[in-house]
Amino acid sequence: MPRTRFLGTGFAVPDRVVTNDDLSRVMDTSDEWIRTRTGIEERRWAVEGETGAGFAHQATLRALAAAGLGPGDLDLIVYATSTPDHFAPGGGVYLQRLLGDRPIPSIDIRNQCSGFVYALSVADAFIRCGQFRHVLVVGAEIQSTGMDVSTRGRNTAVLFADGAGAVVLGPSDDDASGILAFDLHGDGHYAERLWVDAPGSMYHPRVSHEQLDAGRHFLDMDGKEVFRHAVVRMPESVRAVLAATGHDTGDLTLLIAHQANLRISEMMQKSLALRDDQVYNNIMRYGNTTAATIPIALDECVRAGRVRRGDLLALTAFGSGFLWGSVAVRW
Ligand SMILES: CC(C)(COP(=O)(O)OP(=O)(O)OC[C@H]1O[C@@H](n2cnc3c(N)ncnc32)[C@H](O)[C@@H]1OP(=O)(O)O)[C@@H](O)C(=O)NCCC(=O)NCCS
Repeated sequence: MPRTRFLGTGFAVPDRVVTNDDLSRVMDTSDEWIRTRTGIEERRWAVEGETGAGFAHQATLRALAAAGLGPGDLDLIVYATSTPDHFAPGGGVYLQRLLGDRPIPSIDIRNQCSGFVYALSVADAFIRCGQFRHVLVVGAEIQSTGMDVSTRGRNTAVLFADGAGAVVLGPSDDDASGILAFDLHGDGHYAERLWVDAPGSMYHPRVSHEQLDAGRHFLDMDGKEVFRHAVVRMPESVRAVLAATGHDTGDLTLLIAHQANLRISEMMQKSLALRDDQVYNNIMRYGNTTAATIPIALDECVRAGRVRRGDLLALTAFGSGFLWGSVAVRW
């Protein structure tokens, strides 16, 4: 069986920059509070008319160009989002439509902050079994329209943001390089600790004026509980995925973790005893773009020359579900 290799990466974010001072003008917060608790300095929020599929399209064109391929070379889209442009259909078909006329299949993955890692696992299975050759994996989110941008929503509104990252995957021509292993987990007992309650098909109707007035359509989070689990689960999973490949953290060239909160990343780095050059963080500039954080960070690292052929990488994520997991890659 071939391994799955990364052939190209790309990302796109909105032009509109929202600083911590911008937020402190519309809610009771401060640049100092946000920087100290989260590390975030600014984030990108879409303006009306911009869509998740639109950013996914820009990211895809960059990833395709880096791979030396065109939209006509793609065989499958795996589209990770927790914020589809519409309730149905999913984001993948909107991206497929933007890419051209070929009716290629697409699969949406609804796994929130872990969406990109899960999406990679789906693409990897299809490539390894030979069903599809060139698979596009995208993480794309518009979180800003689901935030309560007032003091009531300040614990989430300061964290989440918009953007998209894309990777083009294909079969490796050697046994040594490519995706080596996955480590995936989920525990639905914590589903309501980080969730969007409505609209939901369990309600008649799916969303009511009362629910809207109560803000139940906004992302709702128990920040302390998420923090407590994230700082344990991600390091645990990184160790597990490296052990599955016969490696340990000393062998790691680079860890790219989901950009949830800089404090979480720092605690993880400490618990894994990683040097500064073994980790990459960009949450300061982009906030938490959910399924898009890892492919955005990965593309920045690739373009900055921080990832070279033969390097050992781990990507790890934790989020709503709770769902978490990691992937080990020989670049
Ligand atoms: C969100 C987070 C930064 C909050 O930090 P915290 O230390 O847990 O803060 P708390 O929620 O206990 O709130 C402490 C106080 O700050 C206030 N507060 C919350 N958000 C605030 C903001 N943006 N600005 C100012 N004050 C804020 C709270 O209302 C609370 O005030 P009170 O003590 O008067 O009730 C932190 O819990 C966190 O990062 N959690 C993980 C979130 C995450 O990564 N989510 C994505 C996972 S994929």
